[in-house]
Amino acid sequence: MPFLNLIPPVGLGTFRLKGETVQQVVRDAIRIGYRHIDTAAIYQNERDIGAVLQETYNNTSNLLGRSDFWITSKLSPYDMRKPREALLQTLRSLQTDYLDLYLIHWPAMARKAASSAEHRRLRLEAWKVLNEAKHEGLLRHIGVSNFRPQHIQELLDETEYDLQDAFVQMETHPWYWRDALEIHNRFGEKGVRIVGYALLAEGKLMGENCPETLDKIAEKRCSTRVQVILAWGLSKNWGVLVRSENVDHLRQNLEAPSLVDVLTSEDLALIDAISSPEEEKKLCWDPRHVK
Ligand SMILES: NC(=O)c1ccc[n+]([C@@H]2O[C@H](COP(=O)([O-])OP(=O)(O)OC[C@H]3O[C@@H](n4cnc5c(N)ncnc54)[C@H](OP(=O)(O)O)[C@@H]3O)[C@@H](O)[C@H]2O)c1
Repeated sequence: MPFLNLIPPVGLGTFRLKGETVQQVVRDAIRIGYRHIDTAAIYQNERDIGAVLQETYNNTSNLLGRSDFWITSKLSPYDMRKPREALLQTLRSLQTDYLDLYLIHWPAMARKAASSAEHRRLRLEAWKVLNEAKHEGLLRHIGVSNFRPQHIQELLDETEYDLQDAFVQMETHPWYWRDALEIHNRFGEKGVRIVGYALLAEGKLMGENCPETLDKIAEKRCSTRVQVILAWGLSKNWGVLVRSENVDHLRQNLEAPSLVDVLTSEDLALIDAISSPEEEKKLCWDPRHVK
C-alpha cells in the first residue's frame, strides 16, 4: 500500500451521524486509534466533530495534537457558488487552521437540472479556489468526489492546475468498483489517488445479500467479512472509509490493513468476480447524468 503512508488507510466515516452520537463515535474512534476522520458540510456534524477534536487536543494525558489527525471535509453542492466562504466556515466549525483534504463533494450544484451548463463553470471555478487555498496553506490536499472521468479530464484540460497528489473519493464495494479502477488507471500516473466510500454499501453488504464468497474467505483467513472487504479495497492501493457506531466494529475495521498481506491473489480475484461488469450496481447517488 505505498501511497497509503501519506494518509491513514482506514478513515472514520461520519455520514448520517450527528450531535451526541457523532461526538461519542469520534471519541471512541480516537481512543481506539483512528487518526483519519471524514466529514462534509452537508453532514451537518462539523461543529460536533470540531468540539471533540478540541477536547482531545486539550486533554494533556493523550499528547495528541492537530498534526496527529487527517481531517477531510467537502464543499457542499449547496455552496458551489461560494466555495471560499464555505471552506472558511468549515475551518471555523472544525476549529482548525487547515484541512488535510478538501473535496468538491459533487460535480453539480444543488437544485439545478443536471443538464445545466452552469455545473461545469462552477466546478472549474471551485477547483481554482481550492488550488489557491492550497497555495495559501489552508489545505494540504485537494480533490473531488463522485466525479466521472470526463469531469476529471476537464480539470486538466480547462485549468492551469495539475493533479499531483489530488484525491478522488468514490463509491467502491464488491458490487461496484470498476469506475474507481478506471479513474485509478487513467489518472493514477498524473498523481491521482483513490479513497473508497461505502465499502459495505451502507450496510447492505452485511445482511442476507452478503455474497457467500466473502464468508468463505473470511473463515479461511481467520477474519471477518468486513475486514475482507476493507482489505480488498486497500489491496488495490485505495484508502477506505467506513462508518460504525459500534466499538467492536470500529476496532475490527481499523485492524483490516493487517489482512492485506494475508489475502491471496485468488481471494482477491474471487471478490472482484462478485459482480461482473454487466452486473455492477451503484447504490449511492449517481453522477452519470451530470453534464
Ligand atoms: N463522498 C460521498 O459522496 C460519500 C457518500 C457516502 C459515504 N461517504 C463517506 O464514506 C463513509 C462510509 O460510508 P457509509 O457511511 O455510507 O456506509 P458504510 O461504511 O458502507 O456502512 C456503514 C454500515 O456498516 C455497518 N458496519 C460497519 N462496520 C461493520 C462491521 N465491522 N461489522 C458489521 N457491520 C458493520 C454499520 O453498522 P454499525 O454502526 O452497527 O457498525 C453501518 O450500518 C461515510 O460515513 C462518509 O464519511 C462519502
